[in-house]
Amino acid sequence: MALLEIENLNAFYGMAQSLHGVSLSVEEGDIVGIIGPNGAGKSTLFDAVMGMVKTTGSIRLNGSELTALKPDQIVRLGIGYAPERAHLFPYMSVRDNLLVGAFTARGEIEPNLDLVHSLFPVLMERRKQETSTQSGGERQMVSLGRALMTSPKLLLVDEPTIGLAPKICSDIAAALKKLNEETGLTILITEQNVNFAMTLARYLYVLETGEIRTRGTVADLQSDEELNRAYFGQ
Ligand SMILES: Nc1ncnc2c1ncn2[C@@H]1O[C@H](COP(=O)(O)OP(=O)(O)O)[C@@H](O)[C@H]1O
Ligand SMILES: [Mg+2]
Repeated sequence: MALLEIENLNAFYGMAQSLHGVSLSVEEGDIVGIIGPNGAGKSTLFDAVMGMVKTTGSIRLNGSELTALKPDQIVRLGIGYAPERAHLFPYMSVRDNLLVGAFTARGEIEPNLDLVHSLFPVLMERRKQETSTQSGGERQMVSLGRALMTSPKLLLVDEPTIGLAPKICSDIAAALKKLNEETGLTILITEQNVNFAMTLARYLYVLETGEIRTRGTVADLQSDEELNRAYFGQ
């Protein structure tokens, strides 16, 4: 049984349908990527997993159906979410933003803070700083850290590289890779930055206009000529 299993998922904003029959699965311990252009439905898919959008279809974590649950219940079951553009509390400190993620945690606050600081040492140095004064890269680190404070089994990361310099992107890729290798955390990541997704993910889904167009390993996708032109610039 896969850790996350999505079957025939449709998502709606009022009358508008943003996802059409999306199915995907993520095995425990894996890093899976979802690539697709702006407006494809990547953020909607994550919002749907977190119970924040109206859906039909099935979303299961370890076999348990999530679709009737509220976001806080889904967090408690073990899904951590680092949303697009971080969405931090700008006038709260780095530390307090991290502690927001610990709202559902019990005894794990100190070990989780230690993990976050070992991945992103700069957040320890900046712990008293308001996040409004931080760089985009540091804010992305706080966002990932806040999601890790929930003690997730599955981490959803929505376009972490938007607007960031290449050096920061590779730091973030390295941190996610380390997290996966050292703690076994399962990661599902969306990206428009295909190169970034390829360096991390072992398996990729291509989402276009709310539908899964194709899926496969990096090598599978690169052997598709049309996709290669559209996404790999070759
Ligand atoms: N809050 C919303 N209300 C109405 N439509 C939305 C909302 N958020 C996204 N959409 C629409 O859903 C589609 C998918 O958007 P989104 O999930 O943000 O794509 P992506 O994250 O891949 O850029 C787009 O057509 C977008 O206009
Ligand atoms: Mg998005």
